[in-house]
Amino acid sequence: MPDNPPKSLTSLPTTKVARAARFAKTGLNVGANYVKHYAKRAVGADSTMADLHAANAAELYGTLSEMKGSVLKVAQMLAMEKNLLPTAYADQFAQAQYQTPPLSGPLVIKAFRDAFGKSPFEVFDEFDREARQAASIGQVHFARLGGLELAVKVQYPGVADSIRSDIRLVKPVALRVLGLDEATVRPYMQEVETRLIEETDYALELRRGQEIAADCANLAHLQFPRYYPELSSPRILTMDWLPGQHLREFLLTNPDQAIRNQLGQALWDFYMFQLNELRRVHADPHPGNFLLRADDGGTVGVLDFGCVKEIPEDVHRLFIALLAPETLADPTKLAALLEEGGVLQAADAPAQRNFYVQTMQASLELVGRPFRESTFDFGDPTYMQALYALGDDLMQQPELRQQREPRGSEHFIYLNRTYVGLYALLTELKASIRTGTE
Ligand SMILES: Nc1ncnc2c1ncn2[C@@H]1O[C@H](COP(=O)(O)OP(=O)(O)O)[C@@H](O)[C@H]1O
Ligand SMILES: [Mg+2]
Repeated sequence: MPDNPPKSLTSLPTTKVARAARFAKTGLNVGANYVKHYAKRAVGADSTMADLHAANAAELYGTLSEMKGSVLKVAQMLAMEKNLLPTAYADQFAQAQYQTPPLSGPLVIKAFRDAFGKSPFEVFDEFDREARQAASIGQVHFARLGGLELAVKVQYPGVADSIRSDIRLVKPVALRVLGLDEATVRPYMQEVETRLIEETDYALELRRGQEIAADCANLAHLQFPRYYPELSSPRILTMDWLPGQHLREFLLTNPDQAIRNQLGQALWDFYMFQLNELRRVHADPHPGNFLLRADDGGTVGVLDFGCVKEIPEDVHRLFIALLAPETLADPTKLAALLEEGGVLQAADAPAQRNFYVQTMQASLELVGRPFRESTFDFGDPTYMQALYALGDDLMQQPELRQQREPRGSEHFIYLNRTYVGLYALLTELKASIRTGTE
């Protein structure tokens, strides 16, 4: 919990100059932390990489949380990439969702007037002035209309317009901190930008939510809200209020093993169906996006179709082939697939090739482990620890640290995020899952 609860915002620090100034300052401080680190190291003093990361993470987080909007979304995404980020960043950014200062009443009313020409009190029978939950680029209010209980997600005014300039600000800082070159990371940046910009379009979220809910209607133990287009706009999304608890709260009620397994299985089946049958997936398995219940026999409510990844057919085929048990046992086959995926390149020296094949083999052994058994127990904490340790280990490899060009398809960014997020949820649930196909 923060010492000072966030104050309600009456205005947003959206002017480009103010944002640029804050960012420049963070960039400088991060730079200064590195200088201190290397200076200390040069004289033999003890400054660990962990200290450095913690100092930079705190610095960056402080700036980002003042800026909100898409910047906060970037932070939240980074928080999920525990396997890609040093722990200090992941821990710091994991707080993002819960620390957003709420919008003041007048700003909420203005958002409604802009969309419908009416205040929310005219649109609904009842509308709670105070937000029930913070969202990354908005907040969620409780409302009633004609006997229905509704959730109304209201986007911060100005966020959609400023997102492109936010990205322009974040990019140079991120590139500098990570030591990457703009031209070579362009396809990856493009992929992330596209997803972030899509997230500001609540009309798109509504459509995708409706479609995926309809496609998944036959899967057991899942709940989706109905969406109400006539009460929604590109910046306001109205849907059924779903009962249930976020994962952490739910776990405090000590649900029994059978319920954990059932809810975990519902999540697993939901993701496998989307990945393999729909080739279109809710790509944000953040704990805030699920509401768990035991009182109705055990269901998972699925929220937030703001980030959906469409998987091209060839990428899907490659992904499945990489995870197949035969591939793991056959380095020649693995190398061929890695070439196809752009991880191995024709100009690579034999030692380099070897490094990539071995690294990928170790990664696939771990990531594919649940698929090689008919039942997998995510309750074993050593599994997720091993995944994070692998991530940390990869980050320490000089071959990867000094690499100026990331390798592999940009489509894998959100696929990896989806898998790691799903595995992390199942680990927290301590669920035992039927992962086999039979
Ligand atoms: N339909 C709903 N029913 C109940 N709570 C909801 C509903 N939609 C959102 N919420 C609450 O609001 C939070 C943020 O909503 P979400 O759609 O995930 O926003 P964002 O897209 O910014 O992540 C959720 O974690 C949940 O607690
Ligand atoms: Mg969400």
